[in-house]
Amino acid sequence: MTELDALIVEACNAISQSAESPELENLRVLYLGKKGKITGLLKSVSSLPVEERPAFGALVNEAKQKVSHAIEQRMQVLENAAYEKNIEAERIDVSLPGRRKSFGSLHPITQTLERISAFFTPLGFSIVEGPEIEDDFHNFEALNVPSHHPARAMHDTFYIDEKVSSIMGSSLLLRTHTSPVQIRVMQSGNAPYKILCPGRVYRCDSDLTHTPMFHQVEGLWVDEGISFADLKGILQAFLRYFFGEERKVRFRPSYFPFTEPSAEVDVSCGACRGAGCRICKFSGWIEVLGCGMVHPRVLSRAMNVPAQASGMAFGLGVERFAMLHYNINDLRSFFDNEVEFLSQF
Ligand code: PHE
Repeated sequence: MTELDALIVEACNAISQSAESPELENLRVLYLGKKGKITGLLKSVSSLPVEERPAFGALVNEAKQKVSHAIEQRMQVLENAAYEKNIEAERIDVSLPGRRKSFGSLHPITQTLERISAFFTPLGFSIVEGPEIEDDFHNFEALNVPSHHPARAMHDTFYIDEKVSSIMGSSLLLRTHTSPVQIRVMQSGNAPYKILCPGRVYRCDSDLTHTPMFHQVEGLWVDEGISFADLKGILQAFLRYFFGEERKVRFRPSYFPFTEPSAEVDVSCGACRGAGCRICKFSGWIEVLGCGMVHPRVLSRAMNVPAQASGMAFGLGVERFAMLHYNINDLRSFFDNEVEFLSQF
């Protein structure tokens, strides 16, 4: 093998082993560049005897062509490989499901409120809201809770600064229940009254089942001839609608200053079906709301109530209903605003 042949073999081997285009470019410079090995041989033609020059020159040119052809081919191979690699990297699996837009959802308390309203509005109850900052008259006095009454201690109340209260001419507080809305409606409207009042209420309480702010729904129906039977019938139907037709409902005598007679209402425990378990504290029953016939003193204090009218009222805690419905044991999780918790509903 001539020196030239050896050079060609060497160049072609190196070219076919090159793995990327910068390496290939280096090889082109090494063999075909201005100071390249093959270029050098071409230059050396002038130092040969005249008669040998044409033949040698032709051989070197042929070698130059072979090497540059090898480089071109290799370049093509490398480019194709790079192209295919790109295609592979950009490959998409068209059979994958699309990315969904994530929509927000209603807060579980709002959903529970809506579920409760959905029972009462078709019965003719209209939704009414009242102020969260109340005065002593509407929150206590008009509801038959005079200032010395022990029931005031039951509601550990958030009072508004005395200075502000004195400017307003009456002591102000964050309402401790939604019952003051009854008074406002009976003062301003025309009987009969058939209302459902949802809203935030505030008590100085905080543990696993209490937060300082929570939601209540108050129901009031005042008309001629409303009796305890109406109260019982409506609440029994409501509780079976909300918790399930198989639930038993029990009315226990109780006390509220603004109703007489008063009752607390229990549903049979859904976890043990009344047999007794930890959830119902082994009683078989779960207390869910307070109710009663509106106290005559409350009715007589409110204007616009006909003398013959009687009324029923009830109040319930929305969080309690939501906890029982969704099986949640820490009430505070409703207000931690953890998306992971909230997005389950
Ligand atoms: N207002 C009472 C409470 O907050 C609930 C209630 C409302 C009881 C209406 C009877 C009638 O505890």
